[in-house]
Amino acid sequence: MGIVYLNGDYLPLAEAKISPMDRGFLFADGVYEVIPCFQGRPLGFQLHLERMRDGLAAIEIQLDWSDARWRELCEQLLDRNGGGNLAIYLQVSRGVDRVRQHAYPRDIQPTVFGFTMAIPAPPAADQAVTYSVTTAADQRWQHCHIKSTALLGNVMHFNQGYRGGHHETILYNAAGELTEASASNVYVVKGGRVATPPLQGQILAGVTRALLLRILRAEGSIPVAERAVLLTELRDADEVWLSSSTRNVAPVTSVDGQPVADGQVGKLWHRAQELFVRHRYDYE
Ligand code: PDD
Repeated sequence: MGIVYLNGDYLPLAEAKISPMDRGFLFADGVYEVIPCFQGRPLGFQLHLERMRDGLAAIEIQLDWSDARWRELCEQLLDRNGGGNLAIYLQVSRGVDRVRQHAYPRDIQPTVFGFTMAIPAPPAADQAVTYSVTTAADQRWQHCHIKSTALLGNVMHFNQGYRGGHHETILYNAAGELTEASASNVYVVKGGRVATPPLQGQILAGVTRALLLRILRAEGSIPVAERAVLLTELRDADEVWLSSSTRNVAPVTSVDGQPVADGQVGKLWHRAQELFVRHRYDYE
């Protein structure tokens, strides 16, 4: 992890200390972002910033940092950690309180923490990393559009799959509609058409999702719909994809131990991946 940022200072990780009275620790009272950077260049930077500001507003944390201030922090973290392919993790918690109380305190300073972690570059279309997933009823809270550090629900779902040898867990609601996966968005392909659950459907507005949808719509040869997607469609799909800042757009070849179609990476993923890699920086 190298050099991290904490409340105004850049310092080695081992020297970064946060009070146990930080509400991020006591209540998971904060939001975070993971911004992928390839060859030192942040991808979807503005979209990540907007989402973080929306999250801060939703939980009423006031932090009036300009775009330039966030950009400077990210550039410093990249420089001090050697650049290359890194994700920048940013976290803002409500800050350190004197007592443990549920009410939002008015007079404390938010804690701002940042570090970097190595991520893979999107693979060439012929070098896909394939995913095996399991499914589970979504048992998280009703505010999944907030990128909150309160991730225990997601962590439990992820580990449900991980224990069984899977890379992700795809979640569905009480109506049998897909929401997302524990740490990524989900897509189903059938008959040459891509469908992904809508943003109102209790999901995180993934930046990779936003970029992929824009790219596919701009290019026009692959129809994409944001609509309710049934669990039964997942089981009957020609292709299933996941997307996230650390996984890029990833093909799923097995769901609950059954192959997706013939169990091979699909044709449309290859095309979508090629377009994603070519155009992902077009929307800054
Ligand atoms: N997770 N849905 C959930 C629940 C997520 O946690 C993530 C990302 C996504 C994809 O969002 P994006 O494309 O903006 O990364 C969807 C990050 C990477 C994480 O928690 O590490």
